[in-house]
Amino acid sequence: MTAACFAELGHGVCVGDIDEARIRSLEAGRPAIHEPGLVELIERNRSRLRFTTDAREVFAAARIVFVCVGTPPTHSGDPDLSAVWAVIDGLPAASDGLVLAMKSTVPVGTGRKVRLELDSRGHAAVGYVSNPEFLAEGTAVADFQAPDRVVIGSSEEAPGDAVAALYEELGAPILRTDVPTAEMIKYASNAFLATKISFINEIANVCEETGADVSVVARGMGLDPRIGPQFLRAGLGYGGSCFPKDVAALKQLAGNSGYHFQLLTAVIEVNELQKRRVVAKLAKHLGALRGKTVTLLGLAFKPDTNDMREASSLVLAARLLAEGAHVRGWDPIALEEARGLLPGVELYDDLLVALEGADAAVVVTEWEAVRAFPYEQAGRVMRTAVLVDGRNVLDPDEARAAWFVYESVGRPSLA
Ligand code: UDX
Repeated sequence: MTAACFAELGHGVCVGDIDEARIRSLEAGRPAIHEPGLVELIERNRSRLRFTTDAREVFAAARIVFVCVGTPPTHSGDPDLSAVWAVIDGLPAASDGLVLAMKSTVPVGTGRKVRLELDSRGHAAVGYVSNPEFLAEGTAVADFQAPDRVVIGSSEEAPGDAVAALYEELGAPILRTDVPTAEMIKYASNAFLATKISFINEIANVCEETGADVSVVARGMGLDPRIGPQFLRAGLGYGGSCFPKDVAALKQLAGNSGYHFQLLTAVIEVNELQKRRVVAKLAKHLGALRGKTVTLLGLAFKPDTNDMREASSLVLAARLLAEGAHVRGWDPIALEEARGLLPGVELYDDLLVALEGADAAVVVTEWEAVRAFPYEQAGRVMRTAVLVDGRNVLDPDEARAAWFVYESVGRPSLA
């Protein structure tokens, strides 16, 4: 993604990865992730992009090396930094003048550790810059091209200047800071957004008890510029490759340094429980779920991506299976990714076929095809017309007019 976007800005970019299959499909113009606009971007900039599994080729070709490796969570909640260290290990002896720009999300303090390590290995003349990434999946190309801000953390001027220069033409505010502050900005931003989501989800749960409508409450809150309208969509909770991992990592980071981050503990717990509330909503209308057929509409963690990491569908499917329900899953593009992750779930690429004979449907991911829910046809093929809208994207009046029992999150129940 980053490579294709820098190529679009006119730079020559060499992309290195240890995964040969990934490099081969990139060469063929087929990135493994589904990201709107990415295939076209690679195609348009073919002449400026080079792909390789040989790290030496990357280091030989580049002045600035962006480290974009995965930092997945470990059992302790700390991120696994082995891929980051592998990059450092791969640095050739003659690397003076090279700048390493860290895009991967790494715990606050990692940059300083890398600096010490570089110095001790005779790489004092290799620059180090923290340049966290704020791209959201599904809008990553647009987010890169029109960022809200670019954060550049460095302890020396020159490497920071070199990285900043790459972004200047985008016209976004560039915040220059030290390395730990840049690292913390990334964690604090994601943790704050996750907190906003858990907050509105708790408000939604109280709305359900009191008869208020959370979507209107969110609109009313969002009109206050100090609060802002974004990330106040109540639903099944947050998933994806960033929020769950980064919130856990920040909590862990705080804990490792002796501070108990109470707020984040609650944010995580609310998010976990939020997905499970669907089960009670289904049982309210279907009774015991044993033997009932429930169709999950959408499996990816959000629309416009095939990413299944920490998707709500995973927890929900497992809960429903544990209740003895037959679980079906529909998704327009994430089926291949879903296959190994959802044992016991029947997968469909046709929404109406997935609904045939179902006792209930649950909106898990707000795909366009779900937003345009075909009430009439669905009502004809489902055994019972029960719809639980886990993303509040359907119109309750329309659902009621089509004789559906309709439940959503934090909006008055129209059963
Ligand atoms: C996020 C950040 O937005 C991005 O800046 C960062 O670089 C990576 O993490 P992403 O995970 O791609 O991006 O998706 P995002 O659109 O932020 O949604 C994350 C999750 O929160 C999704 O599961 C989404 O459904 C959920 N969400 C989002 C809500 O439940 N309510 C909201 O109001 C917004």
